Amino acid sequence: MDVTQMISELSSSPTRFPDCCLAISRTFITSLISILPKKPAFTLSIGSGQGLLEGLVSHSDEDVSVHGVEVSSSVNRYIAEEDMHVVPGTWGLYSFAQHATAWMFVYPRDPKLISRYMDTYGDNAVELIIWLGPRVDWPDYEPCFRQSSFSELSFPDLGLTPFEVAVVARKSECMQV
Ligand SMILES: C[S@@+](CC[C@H](N)C(=O)[O-])C[C@H]1O[C@@H](n2cnc3c(N)ncnc32)[C@H](O)[C@@H]1O
Repeated sequence: MDVTQMISELSSSPTRFPDCCLAISRTFITSLISILPKKPAFTLSIGSGQGLLEGLVSHSDEDVSVHGVEVSSSVNRYIAEEDMHVVPGTWGLYSFAQHATAWMFVYPRDPKLISRYMDTYGDNAVELIIWLGPRVDWPDYEPCFRQSSFSELSFPDLGLTPFEVAVVARKSECMQV
C-alpha cells in the first residue's frame, strides 16, 4: 500500500502499524502538522526508523517538509531519498540538524542523544523539539529538557493513545536572543 492510500484509509482513532512505534490516527497527523514549521523551514526526525510517520506527514501537507536521519539508510521505506540522511552509528550527530526549525524524536532510545543535539546545535535555527513516546518513558527524558535551554514544555493533546504522550519543548524566553 502506498503512502497516499494509507492516508486515505487512516482511522480517526490511534492505530498501530508495523512500520512505526507510535499509534497513528488521522487526528494525530492533522494535529502534528498544525505545530510543525511550514516550508521553506523543515523538521528533522532524528531516529526516523522506517519513516512511516514522516512520510504520512509530508504527503498529507505539501507545505510541510520532514527529513529523517538514521544510522542506516536501508531501514527507510517512506521518506523521499533526497530527504533521508545517515549518521555512521548511534553516537553520530548530523550537522544538518543546525538548519532545521524543528526536531522530532519518536520513541528515541537514549536521552543522551537529545542532550547532545541540544548542546551541539541547540543555539542554531531550531525553535522547537517534539518528543513522542511512551508515557512511562517521559520521566527519563524530562530532566534533559528541564536542564537545557528548551525548558518551556507543553503537553498538547494530539490524539495519541493514553499510553503515549506528545511533548513540545521550546526555548525558554530568557534564553531567546
Ligand atoms: C525505537 S526506534 C524508533 C524508530 C521510529 N522513530 C519509530 O517510531 O518507529 C529508535 C531509532 O533511533 C535510531 N537511532 C539511534 N541512534 C541514532 C542516531 N545517533 N542518529 C539517528 N538515529 C539513531 C535507531 O537506529 C532506531 O531506528
